[in-house]
Amino acid sequence: MGYGHEISPIIGLESMRDAGIEAMLIVACGTSYHAGLVGKCIFEELLKIPVRVELASEFNYYPQTLAKTLSIVITQSGETADTIKATRRLQEKGCHVLAITNVVGSTISRIADLTLYTQAGPEISVASTKSFIAQLVALYWLAMSYSISDVNRLANMLMSIRQLPNIVQQVLDNQSSIKQYGEYLAGFNNVFFIGRDINYPVALEGALKLKEVSYIHAEGYAAGELKHGPFALLDKDTPVIAIVAKDNTYEAMLNNIREIKARGAPVIALVENGNTPASEIADFIISVPKAGLIFSPIANSVVLQLLAYYAAEKRGCTIDFPRNLAKSVTVE
Ligand code: AGP
Repeated sequence: MGYGHEISPIIGLESMRDAGIEAMLIVACGTSYHAGLVGKCIFEELLKIPVRVELASEFNYYPQTLAKTLSIVITQSGETADTIKATRRLQEKGCHVLAITNVVGSTISRIADLTLYTQAGPEISVASTKSFIAQLVALYWLAMSYSISDVNRLANMLMSIRQLPNIVQQVLDNQSSIKQYGEYLAGFNNVFFIGRDINYPVALEGALKLKEVSYIHAEGYAAGELKHGPFALLDKDTPVIAIVAKDNTYEAMLNNIREIKARGAPVIALVENGNTPASEIADFIISVPKAGLIFSPIANSVVLQLLAYYAAEKRGCTIDFPRNLAKSVTVE
């Protein structure tokens, strides 16, 4: 047909073992790279194998050790020049490449050895939003297909995945509160986003979305890294958006919020079901429905997308078509 083959939904660990796979590599750009970073946490949790995530634009310029590695490229458009180059480079080195893409018949889908379509439908706006969520769901499915977890855990995960549309709907139902904070952010020139573990890449993506559509300078940071430099920038004019997950990072994140408050910066915390200790420390709270441990990036990402949207709307920006950007980046 000329298209990549659609991947079977269930691959099973045995076939990975049969193929001698001991590690994974994910290569992508921009928002797709952030999806890959979330994917690393999901795969390492469910497969217990090391996962590297590389920016395609960097991957193409240094030597690689790829023995016994399963390679995955992620690209919404399937036309990103750096990701196409990385795919070809991987294949030249003898790797089979699995592509996660949204566009049927795209260049990536034709050259990859296997293609998993995200089936998010056409995404017209330059900013990736629904395709990012679809990429995350594809990564969950893929990891569950390869997982060595027991049947009960997988059954629970399946139930959680089926709840995700409901979770996203709850976030959408809370838009009036999110709008209020988006409009608040519109009055600032600099914003930090912080997260930990699986929500660290969500913080990176929240910052990318805000800067892309509202032109507010935003930085995503691992929460524990702010003290290694960015603290110098914190004051009352530098709000910090903190993603607070009720997982093993919870106490550490509460301490990070206390440190930020002590430096005078306003904190907006995304908290699961508005949980109380974080509510007492942060200045403002956005309550996020509980999606289950490794699924929290879905709910948090939709909140951050809406924050960016309302900040941009308040500033009168052309939200779907930001200046200087193209939907597909077809040059290196
Ligand atoms: C995200 O909102 C941007 N449009 C951009 O970072 C994008 O994700 C990047 O250019 C990669 O595009 P792709 O997924 O089509 O490869």
